[in-house]
Amino acid sequence: MAPSSTEHPRRRHAIDLDDFSSTEIEEILTTAESMKEVLSREIKQVPALRGRTIVNMFYEDSTRTRISFELAARALSANIVNFSARGSSVEKGESLVDTVRTLQALGADIVVIRHSQAGAPYLVARHFRGSVINAGDGRHAHPTQALLDLFTIRERLGQIHGVHVLILGDIIHSRVARSNLWGLTRMGARVTLCGPATLLGPPAYWTATWPEVRVSYHLDEVLSSADVVMALRLQKERQQAGLLPSLREYTRLYGLNPERLARLGERVLIMHPGPMNEGVEISPEAATAPNAVIEEQVTNGVAVRMALLYRLAG
Ligand code: NCD
Repeated sequence: MAPSSTEHPRRRHAIDLDDFSSTEIEEILTTAESMKEVLSREIKQVPALRGRTIVNMFYEDSTRTRISFELAARALSANIVNFSARGSSVEKGESLVDTVRTLQALGADIVVIRHSQAGAPYLVARHFRGSVINAGDGRHAHPTQALLDLFTIRERLGQIHGVHVLILGDIIHSRVARSNLWGLTRMGARVTLCGPATLLGPPAYWTATWPEVRVSYHLDEVLSSADVVMALRLQKERQQAGLLPSLREYTRLYGLNPERLARLGERVLIMHPGPMNEGVEISPEAATAPNAVIEEQVTNGVAVRMALLYRLAG
């Protein structure tokens, strides 16, 4: 059982949501509401983290997550430095641990890391005296994405408890799905995972960790009971060859297309962490439907990351 926030009043790292209690998640979402209010002001800045240094270490491509952390740090008046492996001493063969020691010597307080290797943030945390935030590691975890998804669901539907969330598509390769499973189940949501068997694996793979989760290989059987449909990107960079017969068949069986969109009620939220493969897992009509909150997710990400940075460094 993961420790609760009362046993750990001051959290040091945020590497996955497995060690977050529902109380702590609730507190972060409430702080994020205040941060969202700050971001709606004409001057979108508070002095909360003045003098702190945050380093964005991105070893894998990113647009929204990197910029979101950067905006969040600036809105809290922290110094933010963007480090990318390309053009750094990593190209001269410097190891991750040496790089972290260097950043520490330069005065970094918080490291935000994205890495293609699952577990890399744990290694960094062992060698860094400050705080580590995982911005996505391999297939393992993406806790700030899950927190911003929780925030968006709570803001739109008023609660998370009892809400039925259908996570759809390339689940086996998805760190977003894994972190959302921790967050959603801890907050009392009902979760169904749906996709082809090759991108989902056997039900026991999931129910061993999350016994309450349902697994389905047939979208049209589970679609109508969802309150939220979270479509995931088909992760071509993490795919082994041969998992799909064809992209067309995948889209026909699992794509969120106009026919399926019409069968969803108008209150059903359509979410996607981005970047989208439009026309594959989601059609342009579904992505821009009035009940799609995909851009709101991106907007909310800044407030949620502010709340987390504040909690770790404040
Ligand atoms: C996700 C990621 O990188 O894990 N994107 C994101 O952070 N918004 C999902 C993805 O790559 O499909």
